[in-house]
Amino acid sequence: MPSTLQHSALTPSRSAAARLLNLLSRPILGALLLGLLAATPGQAQAPAARAKTLQELKAFYQQNCTRCHGLDGSAKTPDGKKLGGLDFTRAAQDFRNLSGPASEREIRTMIRTIQKGIFFGITMPAWKDQLSPEDSTLMVRDILLKAEAGKAIQP
Ligand code: HEC
Repeated sequence: MPSTLQHSALTPSRSAAARLLNLLSRPILGALLLGLLAATPGQAQAPAARAKTLQELKAFYQQNCTRCHGLDGSAKTPDGKKLGGLDFTRAAQDFRNLSGPASEREIRTMIRTIQKGIFFGITMPAWKDQLSPEDSTLMVRDILLKAEAGKAIQP
């Protein structure tokens, strides 16, 4: 690593104390950096990292949403029923009957709900830390609004 840092460390005009400090600071900096990386939760960086693929989003649905929305999105699960979960397979049907602006409005509402959750995340958690707006858009357009009753959403 022929960086300027290394170079300056070897400059003879530096005092012994400065040289010692410089030497010491490197492993400390390294340890600090490692500590920081280890302390940063993976999900905090996820949204910025890159958009999820359709397959990844289906897996994400399977892991995080089926509890309330059901394997196929119809919310026919104990939790889904208890919460009055909305049936995506019916929404998907209704959606086909909606015209342009109405369907765009519906899509925007769904995306916003995924990002923000419902009732401070109590009724439904917010997913903005795990799903970017782009991820949420794909989730709504290509997964939820294409859900079919009895057909599990899976990769
Ligand atoms: C703890 C239960 C729970 C979990 C987990 C959950 N939801 Fe929900 N979700 C709800 C409830 C309750 C509603 C409201 C249903 C209604 O309006 O009848 C809802 C509504 C929605 C809506 C409809 C928004 C609208 O305004 O039309 C979307 C979209 C949605 N959820 C997506 C998801 C996705 C995607 C996941 C997983 C990443 C998820 N939900 C996880 C409980 C949950």
